[in-house]
Amino acid sequence: MARGPTLAGFAVLAVLIAGGGFVANQIDAHRRLDRKVHVLTGGDPAAGRDTLARLSCGGCHEIPGVHGAAGRVGPPLTHFAGRAFIGGRANNTPANLVRWIQDPHQFDPQSAMPPTGASDQQARDMAAYLYTLQ
Ligand code: HEC
Repeated sequence: MARGPTLAGFAVLAVLIAGGGFVANQIDAHRRLDRKVHVLTGGDPAAGRDTLARLSCGGCHEIPGVHGAAGRVGPPLTHFAGRAFIGGRANNTPANLVRWIQDPHQFDPQSAMPPTGASDQQARDMAAYLYTLQ
C-alpha cells in the first residue's frame, strides 16, 4: 500500500531546514568576524590561533580556543576584544596590540611579559585571533 508523507516526516524536514539555516547563519557570522579582524589587523585569525599555540603563549595565558593554553602567569586573554587597555598601559588598538605582542617592554621595561620574537605577520595574525575573543 502506498503511503503519503506523514506529519512526522514533515516535522523532521522542518527541523532539518531550520537547523540548516541556523548553521548557515553561524558560518556567515563567523566569516564576517574573520573579515572584520583581518581589516583591523592585517592578520589571519586561523593562522594566529596556530601561532599562539606554537609560540607557547598559553604557558602564561589562558586563551579560549587555543589547545592547552591555560597558563596563570599572565592575565587571561578571554574577551580580549572588549578590553580598554593592554597590560593596563596602552590603549587597546590593533597597532599597539601588534607591538605589545612583539615586545611589551616598548610600553614598560618592567613588564613581566618577555619579548616574544614574533615576526610582524605572526603578531598581526595573533592580534587578529585575540580580537575574535568577544
Ligand atoms: C613568561 C610568561 C608570558 C609569555 C610566554 C607571554 N606572556 Fe603575555 N603577558 C604576561 C604577563 C605577566 C602579562 C602582564 C604584563 C604587564 O601587565 O606588564 C602579559 C600581558 C599580555 C597581554 C595584555 C593582557 C591584558 O590583559 O591587557 C597580551 C595581549 C599578551 N600578554 C599576549 C601574549 C602573547 C600573544 C604571547 C605569545 C606570543 C604572550 N603574551 C606570551 C606573560 C607572558
